[in-house]
Amino acid sequence: MDFEKLLSNNRAWAQLRVDEDPDFFNRLAGLQSPEFLWIGCSDSRVPANQITDTQPGEIFVHRNIANLVVHTDVNLAAVLDYAVNILKVKHVIVCGHYGCGGVRAAMTRTDYKAILNKWLRNIKDVYRIYQEELDAIEGEEARADRLVELNVREQVMNLAKMSTIQRVWKNENRVHLHGWAYGLKNGYINPILHLPPNTPIDPLYEYEDL
Ligand code: CO
Repeated sequence: MDFEKLLSNNRAWAQLRVDEDPDFFNRLAGLQSPEFLWIGCSDSRVPANQITDTQPGEIFVHRNIANLVVHTDVNLAAVLDYAVNILKVKHVIVCGHYGCGGVRAAMTRTDYKAILNKWLRNIKDVYRIYQEELDAIEGEEARADRLVELNVREQVMNLAKMSTIQRVWKNENRVHLHGWAYGLKNGYINPILHLPPNTPIDPLYEYEDL
């Protein structure tokens, strides 16, 4: 497909929106008040709005390879801060997906060179935490699928370890954390875990002076 097709598609799409609802863009341009922050994989097959059948304005989105929550990632930290404290979202969703190329790559010993190695290293660290369980699983695909789920779990836990989340939990009893895994083969989202506000976490990561 040529890039110009994207632009002509866009014009047709915008026209159709106005035909259906003349106020569509005026309403959207006026206010953004999404209730959800989506932290998903950059994979082109997992578009947040389409798989949840939601409209522009409903989900604030951050995506990276293998939907990682890395506490030193300034990009993610800024998105999270803005979504939680300015947009005041009620839910933060980490959505991984079965068949994730990033997760599969992290299970190999391939050298993907400097920067990708660094990123994938975060997934290898998740593997190490659950090594006993994962090594016992027969079959590469089943093991990768389980690592997708465990990776989602760890990334949700990483959110709970951040002071941004702990502060809004303590002061406003707000923000539910969710971990989901999307199936490329059937289109279904599998809910993995849900941490309501003020779920107890490992005291090692708990801040007391929030
Ligand atoms: Co992926």
